[in-house]
Amino acid sequence: MVALTEKTEKRLTIQTVEIAQETTAIRSLDWDRDRFDIEFGLQNGTTYNSFLIRGEQTALVDTSHEKFRQLYFDTLTGLIKPTEIDYLIISHTEPDHSGLVKDLLQMAPEITVVGSKVAIQFLEDLVHQPFKRRIVKNGDRLDLGNGHEFEFVIAPNLHWPDTIFSFDHKTKILYTCDAFGLHYCSDSTFDEDLAAIEEDFHYYYDCLMGPNARSVLSALKRMAELKTISMIATGHGPLLSHNVEELVGRYRTWSQTQAKPETVVGIFYVSEYGYSDRLVQAIANGIGKTGVAVEIVDLGSEVDLQELRELVSRCAGIIVGLPPASGAASIQSALSTVLGSAKEKQAIGVFETGGGDDEPIDPLVSKFRNLGLTTVFPAIRIKQTPTENTYKLCEEAGTDLGQWVTRDRSIKAMKSLGADLDKALGRLSGGLYIITAKKGDVSSAMLASWVAQASFKPLGFSIAVAKDRAIESLMQVGDRFVLNVLEEGNFQPLMKHFLKRFGPGADRFEGVRTQPAENGAPILNDALAYMECEVVSRMDCGDHWAVYSTVYAGRVSKPDALTAVHHRKVGNHY
Ligand SMILES: Cc1cc2nc3c(=O)[nH]c(=O)nc-3n(C[C@H](O)[C@H](O)[C@H](O)COP(=O)(O)O)c2cc1C
Repeated sequence: MVALTEKTEKRLTIQTVEIAQETTAIRSLDWDRDRFDIEFGLQNGTTYNSFLIRGEQTALVDTSHEKFRQLYFDTLTGLIKPTEIDYLIISHTEPDHSGLVKDLLQMAPEITVVGSKVAIQFLEDLVHQPFKRRIVKNGDRLDLGNGHEFEFVIAPNLHWPDTIFSFDHKTKILYTCDAFGLHYCSDSTFDEDLAAIEEDFHYYYDCLMGPNARSVLSALKRMAELKTISMIATGHGPLLSHNVEELVGRYRTWSQTQAKPETVVGIFYVSEYGYSDRLVQAIANGIGKTGVAVEIVDLGSEVDLQELRELVSRCAGIIVGLPPASGAASIQSALSTVLGSAKEKQAIGVFETGGGDDEPIDPLVSKFRNLGLTTVFPAIRIKQTPTENTYKLCEEAGTDLGQWVTRDRSIKAMKSLGADLDKALGRLSGGLYIITAKKGDVSSAMLASWVAQASFKPLGFSIAVAKDRAIESLMQVGDRFVLNVLEEGNFQPLMKHFLKRFGPGADRFEGVRTQPAENGAPILNDALAYMECEVVSRMDCGDHWAVYSTVYAGRVSKPDALTAVHHRKVGNHY
């Protein structure tokens, strides 16, 4: 039976559904898009799924995001008295699933929290009160009675280091939290409409799982030992029941491809509770924009030093991130292994979170330099709680490193056009424009000439934006920006300024006269005209996105002036 409980008409709603025998899904539907998390690029909202399983004893798998506090507890207490819950299984401690753990433990202090060793450590920092716990390892079982025997699968790095999957032998449901999920909010509890969800499913994989392809493959191997899985109860989006085999198969195929990349950058960091994971994600996203694969290793988890050595030696670039105190012997030996396996010709970048006076990263950078590695971006030192600008800086640093390790390939690709074709293509010309965008506190700009009107009704145009452009992340579907038109005979200063090489996180508007448009993006005072635009769709064109946008406002400041035109000789460059 499917019972839907719409608790409110607003953008946050709750759905409760009986998904199997004695098993209820409590799905927090967050219809609002969270535009700043990179993986929310497709903006179909998301859900946070929690599950109640009642054998002779009762277990809750994960909770919800704290923004659902009232709704979630209203729903949960309608289903069960919190004090009757025996176990709270924590698949991982990311706040969108564990945001309400503290509240739950205050209501029901007798609950035993079940999780991996790392998850329990993270929770101690989150909950700040003693709680009953049971640390589980791979293969451990928990019998709730009445056939509901849970078996745990350790799945580190999918997508947090503390992740476990839980398999109920009675219902054959595997609870996987982030893995196999997608950010997709709809009233459908299940995945019956594969066509509607597959794009977001893939995008989510690329953002969150791709960088850990090897860990995905290890988890798939462990999952195979469970034999029949009838349903995958994910933490985000619809639950997989119609396409389990198909979608697990896609994870396998994508991960096998990712795990054997041509060029890979390794990110080696020590995960602490807090923001380091998101920083790593931002860096990985920046690297990914250049088409380079990323492998992330948490030096604080159990690391096989032999595998670590092998990975470091095949990396084209290395990024190391440390908290100020990383004294544990195992971390030190993992770090020494990274150092010992690093090679000349590799790129190196470092970041430090929560740094104090004594900077452990400076001597580390010197050591890498002495080994002949090239520092691609200045050390990132994060002393305060990161802002969106910090994440953007990390993303741009990642892109710089990705571009550095692929520079030979890019030059070769440019030279490979046949001479005649190259000249013919060079006869395509465009105007000269500066695109400016602002999202929250983060702003960016870019010179563009691949701009062309694409429709009358609605008024719209396309811009080709290279996938590794800094501004690309501010041009997702639904984002707003300004197209500034440069003036013939008067474009040099602006063109020169915006073609400067900006370091990660640099303010691109320093020294430029601007005023804010209605949508917040800067209008350049010296532009001949401007238009306010909204991104409607993006088409994948290989190394560029063709970004189609509609125009909803605009003005010409110099009615008699002409648009600057960009003539080229060859087609292998702008
Ligand atoms: C004449 C000219 C036209 C350009 N047009 C485009 C364009 O249409 N799309 C694009 O992605 N980059 C274009 N570029 C490249 C970017 O302006 C510039 O290299 C880029 O902003 C630097 O990368 P970043 O913004 O990621 O740091 C053009 C460059 C020049 C010189």
